[in-house]
Amino acid sequence: MAKKFDRYIITSALPYANGPIHIGHLAGVYVPADIYTRYLRMKGEDVLFIGGSDEHGVPITIKARQEGVSPQKIVDRYHRQIKKSFEDFGISFDIYSRTSASIHHQTASEFFAKLYKEGKFIEKTTEQYYDEETKHFLADRYITGTCPHCGYEKAYGDQCENCGTSLSPLELINPKSALSGNVPVLKETKHWYLPLDQYEDWLKEWILAGHKEDWKSNVYGQVKSWIDHGLKPRAVTRDLEWGVKVPIKEAEGKVLYVWFDAPIGYISATKEWGEKTGKNWEPYWKDKNTKLVHFIGKDNIVFHCIIFPVMLHAEGSYIVPENVPANEFLNLENDKISTSRNWAVWLHEYLEDFPGKQDVLRYVLTANAPETKDNDFTWKDFQARNNNELLAVFGNFVNRTLVLTQKYFNGKVPDTGELDEEAIKVFEQLKKYPGKIAGSLDRYRFREALSELMNLARLGNKYLTDMEPWKLIKTDEEKVKTILNVSLQITANLAILSDPFLPFSASKLRKMLNLPEMKWNEAGNTELLKPGHRLNKPDYLFEKIEDKTIEAQIQKLMDTKKENEKVTTAKPQKEEITYEDFMKMDIRTGTILEAEKVPKTDKLIKLKIDTGIDRRTVVSGIANYYKPEDIIGTKVSVLVNLAPRKLRGIESQGMILMAEDADGKLCFVSPTEEVSDGSEVK
Ligand code: MF3
Ligand code: ZN
Repeated sequence: MAKKFDRYIITSALPYANGPIHIGHLAGVYVPADIYTRYLRMKGEDVLFIGGSDEHGVPITIKARQEGVSPQKIVDRYHRQIKKSFEDFGISFDIYSRTSASIHHQTASEFFAKLYKEGKFIEKTTEQYYDEETKHFLADRYITGTCPHCGYEKAYGDQCENCGTSLSPLELINPKSALSGNVPVLKETKHWYLPLDQYEDWLKEWILAGHKEDWKSNVYGQVKSWIDHGLKPRAVTRDLEWGVKVPIKEAEGKVLYVWFDAPIGYISATKEWGEKTGKNWEPYWKDKNTKLVHFIGKDNIVFHCIIFPVMLHAEGSYIVPENVPANEFLNLENDKISTSRNWAVWLHEYLEDFPGKQDVLRYVLTANAPETKDNDFTWKDFQARNNNELLAVFGNFVNRTLVLTQKYFNGKVPDTGELDEEAIKVFEQLKKYPGKIAGSLDRYRFREALSELMNLARLGNKYLTDMEPWKLIKTDEEKVKTILNVSLQITANLAILSDPFLPFSASKLRKMLNLPEMKWNEAGNTELLKPGHRLNKPDYLFEKIEDKTIEAQIQKLMDTKKENEKVTTAKPQKEEITYEDFMKMDIRTGTILEAEKVPKTDKLIKLKIDTGIDRRTVVSGIANYYKPEDIIGTKVSVLVNLAPRKLRGIESQGMILMAEDADGKLCFVSPTEEVSDGSEVK
């Protein structure tokens, strides 16, 4: 038997307030969290649904710097926009807060202070990269460099986005300051660390032994691998200005690491909810009979399954999560969703193009949710699911039922009459659906739950089609009464069971049926609508989405692709070589002493170069770009140990290094400062 809880607290990852929300966020976190919460509320459970903006962290300050505005200005802008998107899509938070709120600063600060006072941190002075020009220590995304694992050149100090490895700045090859581009120096600084290694036994018992069965395998597997590799102390403070100030004297000028303060944001938001409603927030976080569930994307797993639980456990008065049903990622038209490449469907833009169609997106994102593996959103699939499922099955069934009831019985629910065999069978099946759907929801299987809901609509649709009341009405009105009564009861059940998934449509349907909001356990009832009950005028729940609408969306993405190609025309990186491979090449700086066109050729110029070692002849294919007389005296780089080669009878004794862009335009790779000929390039 599953444990019965007194109350629930459902959290959804706090999105960074540095950009708008897209379908990936919605599919991975907010729609499933909202479905789950609405379902619990309908069951009459005591549940709080927490959201808010994550307003600290380096990406926000970098964006502010780029725009020349304060970080507060950035977070104000996006907090407002994100909050509105969530409201528009019916994400039914009990509170949507933000981490720049003073209640959060206070809560996070007290949390740290308590752990500090109780000696739960270790202090360490280490050397960290420092930008001498801007006078900043370079943590996390303030530093970029080459990933030591995959060679990706734009890896961040905390993570390589190419191979996914989590990194520390000291591991980066060729580190560079993201602020100035300068090569940083090492400088000593003191920080406070959460000794995760001391909690390994507790984590093993709590997760590895306690949640093997009920946690999703993608989540469990990731956590197990982290624990198996051994945990290390993790710094929870940073040398930054933007964030929650570290509340101890010797930490002047330091703030809490964003991943320390942000999850505490769930608690701060709950407190804020308490202040607003006059209710006590504490049982939601401190009573053992509260079920805490974190909805997140897979990139947040270690923070919610290891670091934050260790913080809560170390603090001592808090509960830890019962489950963390993290989702994988959603792709868009076979390509990774990316803010910087504008490869996304933004919620605010969707609503402009599809006003009133929030449920269609909620439906498609749930039907195709990345629950166990990465999944793909395509506009064709969006159209097909709307037209062939929502409209052709759900909408069509409801509409035919309501229209026929208007037509034959003036909008009044007819008597069941004597239930015939078919009706009894349909009712028997109907009664099984609430349990099936609930069973899937209880296990966070939202796709499966939604597909059962659609099966119920399919059952109704098939029943109506098979019974053909429009043919019987002339000969057997009594039977038509039975058929429509049965169909109406299915419709009323759909109004209940669809509510967590399609809240806008469910509410519209209730209005048409002239029914109030209902509880989950009323579903399965075959007498929800009493004979004689008056229905309201039917209206369409869904409409057809035309090809041209979808083509316009696809075109919009193609345009984005084209835009992106303009800026990223660089050829992909060549196969990896070793340092030794590179060191075989002897490249020197030199000066062009003489230049003349090679007769009867288009491209070739014969050069005399001072390589510092000697003066030699090099033939180079640059005549389309340079006139011989213009380049005399130019500083160049020459590969001097390339085996000599004859070109048009002239022996070429080396190669001039040229940069070539995607259009084939050439230019010399020259030293930018005065340097003597023969200097080694390496
Ligand atoms: N802002 C983080 C992200 O978008 C999520 C923070 S979740 C919290 O990846 F728990 F820290 F709040
Ligand atoms: Zn990498």
